[in-house]
Amino acid sequence: MSPSLLGQHLFFLSQIWSSSSDTYRVSISMSNRVITDTLAQSAKSRKHKKPEGTRSDGLDVGIISREAVGVVTAVGAGLTGVKVGDVVAYAGNPMGSYIEEQILPASVAVPVPPSMDPVVVASVMLKGLTAQFLLRRCFKVQSGHTILVHAAAGGVGSLLCQWANSLGATVVGTVSTEAKAVQAKEDGCHHVIIYTQEDFVVAVNKITSGKGVEVVYDSVGRDTFQGSLACLKTRGYMVIFGQSSGMPDPIPLSALAPKSLFLTRPSLFQYTETRDELLEAAGELFANVASGVLRARVNHKYPLSQAAQAHADLENRKTTGSVVLIPDDVKQ
Ligand SMILES: NC(=O)c1ccc[n+]([C@@H]2O[C@H](COP(=O)([O-])OP(=O)(O)OC[C@H]3O[C@@H](n4cnc5c(N)ncnc54)[C@H](OP(=O)(O)O)[C@@H]3O)[C@@H](O)[C@H]2O)c1
Repeated sequence: MSPSLLGQHLFFLSQIWSSSSDTYRVSISMSNRVITDTLAQSAKSRKHKKPEGTRSDGLDVGIISREAVGVVTAVGAGLTGVKVGDVVAYAGNPMGSYIEEQILPASVAVPVPPSMDPVVVASVMLKGLTAQFLLRRCFKVQSGHTILVHAAAGGVGSLLCQWANSLGATVVGTVSTEAKAVQAKEDGCHHVIIYTQEDFVVAVNKITSGKGVEVVYDSVGRDTFQGSLACLKTRGYMVIFGQSSGMPDPIPLSALAPKSLFLTRPSLFQYTETRDELLEAAGELFANVASGVLRARVNHKYPLSQAAQAHADLENRKTTGSVVLIPDDVKQ
């Protein structure tokens, strides 16, 4: 069936083609959708919360993860702006990127410049868009600011530090090990605190001569939240965007009063709600990767068939930077 006929029937089995000499793929056409052959996707630990698609008895009923790069193999009827053969990336919904082939709403598919390595794009798509909205929109970091980034050697942390450094901020980062401290330094942290060895609140107090930081980007959650509040200067911004160590305990609103603090729990999805917002953020991200402001750390690549090992390594804090899964039949 030609692409122009795609989309006339929802969930119509449209096309069977040979992707290699011995395998066949079946795609499903839907209007306003593109179908992609996945080239790479990034892995993300979901230890702290029950994966979507998991039943109460623990059995998997769905495919996890939500970030990938792929080649468009079919285009829904009437769609313009994307064609078969284009490389596109997405981060967010729909769930289910641990797969060889995916159906995407066209509204989430971001064109990837031909000059960019799909593995690099897979590694930075969600993490880089997150860094973009955190630094450029949620709290606008400017030259002269001092900021605190927890888990500075993690996937998002690494990009936050590089980007904030390029904006002229003084970057303080926390990490759990000496090896991660070396990486955080390379990624533009002016001060690295090994928070498993020293009290980060005391260290930040010393680094800022008691003034505190303008903003804390906290993805660790339970273990760091209270200390993060203590690190802020008057009218500082507490940006808690993840909970790798678990949900922080609730605090009374009055806890913000002594320093007139701002507290937000932002999510990328609300910062990329419109197509314009998404394309603008992706454009800025890709430009920073292309110019070298951001160096993607693809420190770990696994075949998709070894996704379980990738998750075990993430949950045991063995990884740094990004973890990328590559479908077993994709040649690199
Ligand atoms: N709000 C949003 O829109 C948004 C978007 C993307 C990601 N996120 C969140 O941001 C967080 C970081 O994502 P990421 O992709 O950068 O993850 P990551 O690469 O796995 O980094 C997480 C880091 O957290 C630190 N950590 C501290 N306590 C931990 C614990 N108990 N278990 C595991 N790690 C722990 C570890 O660094 P150390 O060993 O140095 O402590 C680890 O490397 C996640 O919570 C994710 O859900 C939020």
